[in-house]
Amino acid sequence: MFDLQNKLSGICEAEMKKKFGISTTIHFSFSLDKGRGDLTTSAALSLAKQLKQSPQDVAKTIAQALKSVDGVENVSIAGPGFVNVMLAPATLSGELPSTLLVCSPQKNTKKTSPVIIDYSAPNVAKPLGIHHILSTVIGQSLANLYRHLGFDTVSINHLGDWGTQFGKLAVAYERWGTKKVEEHSIDELLALYVKFHDELATDASLETEGRAAFAKLEQGDTTLREFWKSVVGITMRSLDHLYERLHIHFDHTHGESFYEDKMATIVKEGKKKGVFLPGEGGGLIVRFPETDKLPTLIALKADGSTIYLTRDLATARYRIDTWHPQSILYVVDVAQQLYFKQLFATLGQLGWELPHLEHVLFGRMRFADKDMSTRKGNILKLEAALDEALLRAKTIISERGEKIQTDDPDGLAEMMGVGALVYGILSQNRKMDMVFDWKKMLSFEGNSAPYLQYTHARAKSVLRKGGEEHPALTVATSLSPAERRLTKLLLMFGQTLEDARKDHLPHKLTNYLYDVCQAFNAFYNSDDILGASAEQRAFRLGVTSLTARVLKTGAEILTLRVPDRM
Ligand code: ARG
Repeated sequence: MFDLQNKLSGICEAEMKKKFGISTTIHFSFSLDKGRGDLTTSAALSLAKQLKQSPQDVAKTIAQALKSVDGVENVSIAGPGFVNVMLAPATLSGELPSTLLVCSPQKNTKKTSPVIIDYSAPNVAKPLGIHHILSTVIGQSLANLYRHLGFDTVSINHLGDWGTQFGKLAVAYERWGTKKVEEHSIDELLALYVKFHDELATDASLETEGRAAFAKLEQGDTTLREFWKSVVGITMRSLDHLYERLHIHFDHTHGESFYEDKMATIVKEGKKKGVFLPGEGGGLIVRFPETDKLPTLIALKADGSTIYLTRDLATARYRIDTWHPQSILYVVDVAQQLYFKQLFATLGQLGWELPHLEHVLFGRMRFADKDMSTRKGNILKLEAALDEALLRAKTIISERGEKIQTDDPDGLAEMMGVGALVYGILSQNRKMDMVFDWKKMLSFEGNSAPYLQYTHARAKSVLRKGGEEHPALTVATSLSPAERRLTKLLLMFGQTLEDARKDHLPHKLTNYLYDVCQAFNAFYNSDDILGASAEQRAFRLGVTSLTARVLKTGAEILTLRVPDRM
């Protein structure tokens, strides 16, 4: 579709140059509102002032230039100066192959430098909580989006596998452990950690002991190292299983420990450049200019042990040297907003040549169902949430009985349940707090994964009944209102992906897919597909097939799967 939009833009821009001697860009976007044509531009409104003309007059000039263009059926001026263009059915439908191209992953023909996406990054030695799903699926969907659009991407799990918590866990194990470390499950490790914190309330010396143990680990103590290795191993196994269920894939898992031998040079450089200043008791701190309004930050503890920031500085250096990225995105909770400002400011002080750095933050999770937030005093575990989603999906499938057709009810339930959870998150604006609501997530009617999956299966079923799995796209000489709307929506796929990527907002894609589903179902209900005349039938089958492609492509970018029957 970009071709046609570009053509119209080019014609209007040339006219502006000829008539007013100005160089400007005139952008056309699709409009779905009734009576507003197929493509619309508000350029006249923004140009009026510059041209010292009324918006209406500028709109008239634009409209005049478009009237005789091939494929333009009608041009009208609406409201204060919008120019609406109605396209001939053949022109509009003739653009659909461009959407088919958008469905295939693009190549990085411009050879741009990669985008690094840092997400999930749980702190190990604890099972994942439900909230961990946020960074995990938002990050993965952004990585998929970038990759699909032809960017080289590097996805990294910056695992929290280093830090005082290991010292604490080691102390807990030494005191209360009853079997070999490697025989612990992830839950048993958590129990030890929880016990440590319970005992801390009455025995403050534990804190010092824990810190000392971590300092020893950092200095290379062999027993502690072995202990640490076992704990990381246990965590990784349970993580891998969850990542598989969620379709999460990392190019690299470089935990914080990976940077252990890369911090000394950073500390040295920071000191030399006067970025790290002596702090209390021998530690190092970073101060920020008053105008930044950022509180002072510790860079190295008094006992010489490193912290989260020290590791993030070394991480940034490593990433820059290794991949020369154009940007690094950190998909992390809003709670770390201040921290990332400080991190970026510190990187700035170090005077390095930096890529675009962005904290892609997201809000907290709230529960529609009150007793969900705390279960037996613990956080709801991600695994338990996935299992519950699966169970609920199974119930729905058996309740629907005949209405659902599948030869793999378990596979479908997993796809639907996990999909519902993930879609429930990605369909909300990540910048706001997110509401977790089983009913809404699993609804067959709303903006949900089951609705998307059901619509995809319906389109596939039409194709099966039509006897053509992959019908070619044909050109329509007339379009019903439902066909016109669906056609326009399908043509908007490329722009939607681009917008969702640019703003790092996956919900722009879910909203779009929801619109496509609704438009397809309206079309399915109002227009006879299989019983239409040969020419119409061919067009309708082609559009049905393209709809299925778009839904599947979009769903997979969002880490979801869609069934062929359901
Ligand atoms: N492990 C951290 C946490 O759970 C998140 C790490 C995010 N990435 C980073 N490079 N700081 O809070």
